[in-house]
Order: sequence, then C-alpha cells, then structure tokens
Amino acid sequence: MSILVTGGAGFIGSHTVVELLNKGENVIIIDNFYNSKPEVLDSIRKITGKDFKFYEIDYTKGEDLEKVFKENKDIESVIHFAGYKAVGESVKKPLEYYTNNVAGTLVLLETMRKYDVKKLVFSSSATVYGDPEIVPITEECKTGGTTNPYGTTKLFIEQILKDLYNSDNNWDIVILRYFNPVGAHESGLIGEEPQGIPNNLMPYIVRVAQGTLKELSIFGNDYNTPDGTGVRDYIHVVDLAKGHIKAIEKLNKENKGLFIYNLGTGHGYSVLDMVKAFEKATGKEVPYKIVERRPGDIAECYSDPKKAEEELGWKATKTLQEMCNDSWNFINKK
Ligand code: UFG
Repeated sequence: MSILVTGGAGFIGSHTVVELLNKGENVIIIDNFYNSKPEVLDSIRKITGKDFKFYEIDYTKGEDLEKVFKENKDIESVIHFAGYKAVGESVKKPLEYYTNNVAGTLVLLETMRKYDVKKLVFSSSATVYGDPEIVPITEECKTGGTTNPYGTTKLFIEQILKDLYNSDNNWDIVILRYFNPVGAHESGLIGEEPQGIPNNLMPYIVRVAQGTLKELSIFGNDYNTPDGTGVRDYIHVVDLAKGHIKAIEKLNKENKGLFIYNLGTGHGYSVLDMVKAFEKATGKEVPYKIVERRPGDIAECYSDPKKAEEELGWKATKTLQEMCNDSWNFINKK
C-alpha cells in the first residue's frame, strides 16, 4: 500500500516523507515546485537511502491528479500539504489563495472519493483560532476570526472536511493544527527555503546572523506579554513530521472518525527569547531594532498539546537549542 503526499517537496512535506520512508512506507510525492526545489527529492533519497515515486503536477488540475490515482491503485491514504502559505501575499492575492488551497482541496477530495481512497491527514494551522481568548489553546477553543485569506483558507477547508465526514462516515480524517514550525533535518540537507526576504521569524534571524540581512526588526514590544514582544509556540519540524506518522497510524487502526489535534510543544517563547536562544546556541550575534507592530499579529499563541499525547502517543521532544542549531546548520550547508 502507498501513501500519497501532496506538496512532499516542501518544508514540512519533505521532513514527513523522510520519516515515512524511514518507517518503511511506500511513498508517492506530487509537487509542482511552486515553493520548493527539485533538489529536495535527491536530498530525501540521500538521507533515507530509499526511493519513492514522484509526479511533477499541479494538484488543482483534476486530470493530472486523476492520472496518479489511476496509475497507483495501491494508494491507501493521503497526506495533504500542498498549498500557498504566505500570510502577507494572501492579502494581496486572495483569489489565488482560495483557488489553490480551497478549490484545489475540493479537486483532491473528489478524486479521492472517485477512487475510494478515504483516509486523509490535513495540514492545518493554529491560525484557525484567530486571536485566542485563552492560552494555552486546546482543540475545543473557538475557531474563526482569522485575520488574512491564508488563515481563512485553512478554516474553510476544515469546515469542508467536517461536512464531508458528516455526509459519509467512511472517511477517516485527521486535521493537524501546526503551531510555529522551525528547525531543519539534523543532516542539514533539507530545511526551510523561503523565496526572497523571509516573513517568518526564524528564517529572518538566521539570515541576520549570517550577515545576509542587516538586522532583525522586532514587530512591537508593547504587547501584554512578559517582555512585550509576541509569544509563539515554536516546534521543531522533525517533531512535527513525526506527528504525521502517528496520525497515519491512527487512521489505519480502523478508528473511523474525524479527529483534530494541536501539534505544538505547549511552551510559549517571545521574540526576544528566540533572539537570545539563537545567540546562545550558535555564538552568533543577532542585531535588532524595535519597530511598529505588524498588522494582523496577535500577542500570544501557544498550544495545549495534551490531546495529541493522550490519543496519538505523540509529544514534541526537541529543544529550543536544537531548533536554533539545526536552522543554522542548514543555512550554512547550502
Ligand atoms: N516577528 C518579528 N520580526 C520578523 C518576523 C516575525 O518580530 O521579522 C515576530 C512576529 O511579530 C511574531 C513572531 O515573530 O510575534 C512570529 O512571527 P512569524 O511570522 O514567524 O509567525 P506567525 O506566528 O506570525 O505565523 C506563523 C505562520 C503562519 C501560521 C501561524 C500560526 O507564518 O503560517 O504561524 O499561528 F498560520
């Protein structure tokens, strides 16, 4: 049996494929390299010493996607990572985001239904909680109030999946809500490669430490947090990848249902904590200045990860120091 991974050449997708191959699973990747590079595929082979099938296709094109299902009758489940993910860009290009993420997912679901593949793990995000009423955030907390089209696509897809499950209980669906993925594989062969100037904190810090960017702009120090800067739940991408293995195991246990899990560490770190942790881990200096708040940002967002521990047997184990070291190692190997 095979697992189809959409967006398997991307940041979280590639790390998950490594874990799947290491576990002995058969993997089929589809990717159109919109936000990833073909070299990643060779890096995955190098890390694992294993091979997989690959299709360079756009998953929103039904005919191309159908070819993959037609040629691979052994597809048993799908892990769906493919999607646009830049918050700022989504504000400028809402139609592209809704088309690629929401309409694309509908194409995928229709094709899965046609070929009677009804096991799905979906990449969602803590962004669906909007500005949380309380922290730590549990899965029962209210969703909605997203502040950008990217976040809204995740919210809409979650609703579509719930409606689909209600209409046909033969589906088995796990929705994983990621907090802030950082770090890279310890080999330094795969990691996060944002195009242009990074929007996210860790890729920005790494480039400042490297000297490619002059200084970090910290977006506000007047939030209601211990040091005034924004607090997030940073999680090592390899821990996150392992959460998908547990999700697939859950789907395979004949455990019909739709399940939602937070994947985070349960710890919140501020922007200044991250700068200090990075400097301590790598010995590199990260010059910064405090600037205006970034529109759409919230003060605090961190998870209660208990449900994933109790029901999936999954827990993040990698430290902040490992997150910093592995991010730094990856950029220096390139
Ligand atoms: N930050 C800075 N300077 C920067 C970049 C970020 O101070 O140059 C701060 C932000 O203000 C925030 C924190 O660092 O307080 C983290 O910001 P990121 O952009 O790294 O991450 P976000 O929490 O804003 O968003 C991330 C993903 C989204 C996802 C969300 C889920 O980018 O895709 O987490 O909570 F939806």
